[in-house]
Amino acid sequence: MARLEGRSALVTGAARGIGAAIARAYAREGATVAVADLSLDACRATAEGIGPAAYPIVIDVTRQDSIDAALATVVERAGGIDILVNNAGVYDMDPVPSMTRASFDRLFAVNVAGTLFTLQAAARAMIAQGRGGKIVNMASQAGRRGEALSPVYCATKAAVISLTQSAGLDLIRHRINVNAIAPGVVESEMWDHVDALFARHEGLAPGEKKRQVGAAVPLGRMGVPEDMTGMAVLLASPESDYIVAQTFNVDGGNWMS
Ligand SMILES: NC(=O)c1ccc[n+]([C@@H]2O[C@H](COP(=O)([O-])OP(=O)(O)OC[C@H]3O[C@@H](n4cnc5c(N)ncnc54)[C@H](O)[C@@H]3O)[C@@H](O)[C@H]2O)c1
Repeated sequence: MARLEGRSALVTGAARGIGAAIARAYAREGATVAVADLSLDACRATAEGIGPAAYPIVIDVTRQDSIDAALATVVERAGGIDILVNNAGVYDMDPVPSMTRASFDRLFAVNVAGTLFTLQAAARAMIAQGRGGKIVNMASQAGRRGEALSPVYCATKAAVISLTQSAGLDLIRHRINVNAIAPGVVESEMWDHVDALFARHEGLAPGEKKRQVGAAVPLGRMGVPEDMTGMAVLLASPESDYIVAQTFNVDGGNWMS
């Protein structure tokens, strides 16, 4: 039997990349999935590719009215919410001497405040339903230690790990499991952007940084979005009922913790 049969899931940042792969996997496992992202057209294209179990909705996780409207749509359309994947995220390269407040504010607004207030809205709905729930936050290996060129992004992902711990401890009394995934390096449009920034900062040929980070992974390659789906399904399924406030590295062996 499918492991998420009859569940209602909301995946943010799901138009592409890791979020789209998780939405596909949840639909395969029997869930009804809201594919939520900034562009309705992009969400619609991804949802249509998944099939009738998926539907598109707009969300901008930096805006409370948008978060509230998205949650209300999911609850009305699918009869509630059982699973939230807080996957929307943005990256910027901002070494200390040249970093700007604008970049800092944007990264914290999406990666930290966006994660926390979407989690809060989903948790409120789950508590009102009284049937528990599963929340999966997207952290990063970048949250495990600093990086010279990406101090703000690393700080946002460290905050996601910390919020996962605190929210996980708070919400488990409502049978809401909050956990996180810390991906390593995963092929996506985000990493195309990272590669281009490294090319500029370090004078590398396009694609060279990807080649370097892929070769450095103990497993021998960069991840692909589908590599994240096994853990994402586990953390959304009843098999994770006794897993609370944890962050799991899914990174080909890059990081030990
Ligand atoms: N790719 C990697 O190597 C990697 C590694 C570690 C962690 N992560 C994290 O995984 C998540 C997904 O990354 P990805 O590689 O698929 O990135 P991606 O850039 O391909 O996709 C991110 C999605 O988030 C959406 N988004 C951005 N701002 C948003 C907002 N305000 N509201 C709603 N949606 C918004 C984008 O439109 C996009 O569709 C991110 O949180 C990222 O930080 C990625």
